[in-house]
Amino acid sequence: MRPEIHFTPERNWMNDPVGLIYYQGYYHLFYQYFPYAKQWGTMHWGHAVSRDLSCWQRLPVALYPSRLEDCNGCFSGSAAENGGKMYLFYTGVRYDKVSRENIHESENGLFTSCQIGMISPDGFTFDTHEKKLLIPAFTDPALGSRVHTRDPKVWKDSSGWHMVLGSQCEQQGQLAGQLLFYKSSDGETWLFQNRCQMAGEVMVECPDLFQADGSWVLMASLMGRGTGEEPEHISYGGVVGFDPGSGELQVDSAKLFPLDNGMDLYAAQTMKDEQGRNVMIAWVRMPQALEGEPWIGMYTLPRVVSVSDGQLHYAVHPLVKEQFTQTCRPESFFGTAVRIEAELDADATLNIGGYEIRRKGTLLYTDRTRVFPDDAARWLRRTQTILTGGYCRLEIYVDHGIVEIFVNGGEQVITQVVYEMRKTCFYEHVRGLRCWKLRTQQS
Ligand code: FRU
Repeated sequence: MRPEIHFTPERNWMNDPVGLIYYQGYYHLFYQYFPYAKQWGTMHWGHAVSRDLSCWQRLPVALYPSRLEDCNGCFSGSAAENGGKMYLFYTGVRYDKVSRENIHESENGLFTSCQIGMISPDGFTFDTHEKKLLIPAFTDPALGSRVHTRDPKVWKDSSGWHMVLGSQCEQQGQLAGQLLFYKSSDGETWLFQNRCQMAGEVMVECPDLFQADGSWVLMASLMGRGTGEEPEHISYGGVVGFDPGSGELQVDSAKLFPLDNGMDLYAAQTMKDEQGRNVMIAWVRMPQALEGEPWIGMYTLPRVVSVSDGQLHYAVHPLVKEQFTQTCRPESFFGTAVRIEAELDADATLNIGGYEIRRKGTLLYTDRTRVFPDDAARWLRRTQTILTGGYCRLEIYVDHGIVEIFVNGGEQVITQVVYEMRKTCFYEHVRGLRCWKLRTQQS
C-alpha cells in the first residue's frame, strides 16, 4: 500500500525534493527521479503540482539529460520566479567514465559538475533547448571541486539574485566542505561572491538559506557526519549570521542540529508559501520498498519552519493539517492516514501498530525494531529525545509506511519509515488521546 497523503513517485526511484516553488496559484514540486528502476541512476526531474500542499497531481518529467554537460544527470537545484516566468537552476553532471555494466553509474566516482539554468514560460512546459550553462566546473581544486560542487539554491531580494552552492575544496591535501555564494542581476550572469568553509565537514549538499522570524536559517545535508548506528549523511539546520550584500556567512556548528531525530530525513528544501511562510519538504530515505510496491522514496508532510528563541520549530502546514477532520477511534484507524494528539505522562507508553513510543520523565523514546527490517545497516531503530518544559504533548501523523511525531509544539520531530504495522494500538498513562482521519480520499 502507498501512503495516502505523503508524496511518492508513481514508479521507481525518488530522492531529493527540488525546485519547490509557489508559482501562479500552484505549489510545484520537482524531484530527483530515476524513472527506470527502484534504485538511484541517471537523474531526471520528476514533477507534480498541488493547490493545497495535500493533494498532488503527478505530471510528466520536466528535466532530463539532453546536452553534454548534463548527459549523466540533472542533479538537485531550485526554482525562482522572474517576470512571470519560472527559472530553474540545477547541476548538470557528466561522468569521466561510464560504467560498462550500468550506464547509469560512473565507473570511478569521478564526474564534472556545472550549474545550468532553464526558463519555463509557464511552469508546465520545459524546452530542452532553453538550457544555459551558468557556472562552469571548477578547474582549481583549491577553490572548488570539479566533482563535488552542486545543488544551487537561488533566491531573489531587492538587491538582486543570490545563489548558494554546496561544495568541497582541497587544502594541504585535505578535503574540506564549503558553501559558495554567487550574485547576479538577471539570473543568467553569475559572479562569485564569497565562500564559507565548514570546519570539520567533508562535503555539504543541498544547502538552503532563508529568513524566518527575523533570523537567517541555514539547512544543509552533511556527508560523513553520522557515527555508529546513525546513517552516514545527516541533514542539519540552525540559525546563522548572513549578510546578503557580501555573501558572508557565519556558522557556529554547535548551533546546527539534526533537522529530525528519526534520521531518515535528508536533503530538505524550503519554499515560501502563498502567505510567505517557509515550507520545508524533505526526502525520507527507505532501506527497501514497501512490500509489493513499484516505487521507493517518500517525502515528509510539508512543514512550516519558524524560529523562536534562536531554535527551529516545525509544524505540519495548516493546509495539510486541516485535511484531518473525521474523528475516529485510535484502535480503528488502520488502513488510513491519521493524525493523533496525545499527552504522555511521565511513565507513559503508546504503541501504534508495533511502533513504540515511551516517556520516562524528561526523556522520550521511540523504538521501531518490530516494524523495521532486521538486516538494514545504519538505520536508527531507537531514538531518544530530551523533553523541555516538563510535559510531553505529541502530534503524530501515521500513514502507510511512515510515522511523523511532532514533540511539544514542534520543538523536535521524529520521522521514521515503518514496515508492516500491525492492527493494534495500546496505551498506558496517556491522556487526551484523539484521532482524526482524512476528510476525503487523497489521490
Ligand atoms: C543528495 C544528492 C544531491 C545531488 C542529488 C543527486 O541526496 O546527493 O547532492 O544533487 O542527491 O541525486
